[in-house]
Formats: sequence, structure tokens, C-alpha cells
Amino acid sequence: MEVKGNKLCLGKFSAKALADKFGTPIYVYEVSIIRRKYSELVKSINYPKLDIHYACKANTNLLVLKLLKSFGSKIETVSKGEIILALKAGFRAKDIIYTSTSVSKEEMTFVVKNKIRINLDSLSQIELYGKLNKGAGVGLRINQGIGAGHHDHVITGGEMSKFGISLEHLPRARRLAKKYNLKIVSLHQHIGSNILDVKILLKAFDKLLETALNFPDLVSLDFGGGLGVPYLSTEKELDLKLFGREITKRMNDFCKKYGRELTMVLEPGRFLVAQSGVLITTVTEIKKNPKRTFVGVDSGFNHLIRPAMYGSYHQIVNASQITGRKIKVDVVGNICESGDVFGRDRIISNPRIGDILIIQDTGAYGYVMASRYNSRSLPEEVLIDGSKIIS
Ligand SMILES: Cc1ncc(COP(=O)(O)O)c(C=O)c1O
Repeated sequence: MEVKGNKLCLGKFSAKALADKFGTPIYVYEVSIIRRKYSELVKSINYPKLDIHYACKANTNLLVLKLLKSFGSKIETVSKGEIILALKAGFRAKDIIYTSTSVSKEEMTFVVKNKIRINLDSLSQIELYGKLNKGAGVGLRINQGIGAGHHDHVITGGEMSKFGISLEHLPRARRLAKKYNLKIVSLHQHIGSNILDVKILLKAFDKLLETALNFPDLVSLDFGGGLGVPYLSTEKELDLKLFGREITKRMNDFCKKYGRELTMVLEPGRFLVAQSGVLITTVTEIKKNPKRTFVGVDSGFNHLIRPAMYGSYHQIVNASQITGRKIKVDVVGNICESGDVFGRDRIISNPRIGDILIIQDTGAYGYVMASRYNSRSLPEEVLIDGSKIIS
């Protein structure tokens, strides 16, 4: 997204033109940004056996999945529904990883029947899977006690997290695997989401390498996702060069010790798609109360739940008036709950009814978490690639 003159543009289109063409609210994703993020990530890692499995929970739009596949990405899924979408987008079963929690027998049977690679998340999952697919190669999701992330809800390592097999349980995990003749060919971890601090990512990386030395049959090591993006203008981008350089070095050193070159798997979700997306809304109401000014738009937390659920910050811009007198407002939605707030105390160029407000960086965990709460419809989604609209 860039400002051209007094207009906000996405690719060759002004936000206003897109709003006029498709109506609002609408999610718009820019292909060029997803392409750039994918290429930056791959270029930062100079390790020959690298597999990127896009964590599609961030954005399951079929066109986004096909796009990432065309760049060479593989895919990571967490449900039967995501596996079905991945297959529909053209991913081969062997390029799909499934890592889930509280899995039913029905879902596990589906995974086995479709020959999808799996990371088992608990001792009981090893039992369940072992009974269904004796002798298979499996991955284990490990909780090494290290967690991080932008909110408690997304920290997936450590004692408060429901995810993974704890280090103390690894001997039992191995015994169970042996009972069903399962070969442990991969170890997996995912410590949390939206991490901008390379140090914590490397700490977890090192710990997994240490643990891996005790598993002789490994083919790959899966370090999960979690790479963050800045949402606030005061936040810095993740130091990708440092991250890439350090994990490459660590992996090379590990492989020398281990005696074989293993595949390094990364499962980025947010990092690849968050900055590609905007939610375009229209101002429907302006309420100047004695103490606060509320600007109401034609969307709500049913379309973008991150601010209400995690207290997340998304920049909001008035695309109808980039310049102009700035005022302090609360941007709110059309859902009947007081928590339906996109942002408080935002400085916006004098909004009027009918203006187009853009909520930025909504390409990840936006539409995928949308609901029909208050019996409101879901927004449309559109991809743009320069002067082309792909919908
Ligand atoms: C197993 C697994 N891998 C990858 C991801 C992607 O995380 P992110 O979008 O932070 O990269 C998640 C997110 O919850 C996950 O659970």
C-alpha cells in the first residue's frame, strides 16, 4: 500500500476505486507483498535442504494458497478442513504437514488415509495414530518449556501451554512409538506467534538441536513458525538476515555432529501474509460524545477479531483524505458489544460519513477468524497483482 498524491493505492488501484467496485467491507491482499516476503525469507537462509511449509491457518484463501505453492512453498495444516483446502489448491499429500491438538479418531483416520505427514502432539495421539498406521514414520511435536508471542493466547511453549510432548515424557513417547513400530523421523516445535526477537527464536532452535541428538532416525527438523511483523510504527522488523545467517550456521554445525544432512522445515504463517492485507471499510457514523468521538464503520470484530481478542494494534488510515486536519477518535464497528473497537485514540484525518477507512496489516488471522456474529455477512476477499484483480 502506498500514498500517491492524495490517494491510497494498492497495486495500481486506489482504495476508493476498489471500494466502489466491490463495496465494503472487503479484504484486499497484494500479491507483490506475499511474493516479496516469501523471497526475502528464502534468500535469508543459505541452507540447501530447506522446506518452507506455509502455515495456512493465517490465511486460507485458495488463491493465496495457490500463489504460495507457485513460489515453491509447501504447506502446514491443523485440521481436516485445512488439509482438504490444501489438496484443492494442488499441494501433494507428501508436501502437507498436519500438526494438531485434541484430534478425534475420525480426523486421525482421515490423515492416515490421505497419507499426510504428521507431527504427533501427545502420548495419546501416538497411541491413536500407532493403532491406525503401524510401522509409519512420524514427527513428534515437543514442548521444550520455551514459549514466546504477542499475547498469552498465542504462546505455545511452556508449562501453561496445551501443546506438545514435554521433555520429561520423551522416554514414554519413544516406548509408545516402539510398541507400534513407528519410526520417529522428525521433531517439531512451535513456540508462539508474532515473535520479533531473534534471540528467543534461536534459543528454542538450539534446544531442539540438542534434543535431536538423542533421536537417531531423523530425516527433518521442524522449527515451526512464529516469525513476527511490526504492527506499530515504533516496532522494528524482525532481523531476518541475522535469523537466516544464525540458523544456517547452527543447522550446518548440527548436521556435522549428527552425521547426516537433515531437512530444515519452517512453518511461517503471519510473516508471509500479514502485511499483504488490508480491510477496507466505510464510515457509517460519527458520534461526538462529550468526552470521546466515535467513528463507526461497516465492519466489526466479527470480521477482524485481533483487536478485541488480543488487544492487537492495526494502523488505521482515512483513504478518502490522506492529508487534512487530524482529530483524535475511537474507531468502532457495527457489532452490538462495547468491545467492538478497532482502535482507541487514533489520529485520523478528519473523517466524514462515507469516507473509506483502511485497517492495515490484516492479511493474517483476519478473514480466517471472521464469523457471522450478529447475523452479519462475511466480507469478500480480493487479490490484486499490479493492475490485475484476481478474485
Ligand atoms: C504448528 C504451527 N505452526 C506454525 C504456525 C504459524 O504461526 P505464525 O503465523 O506465527 O508464523 C502456528 C500458529 O499457530 C502453529 O500452530
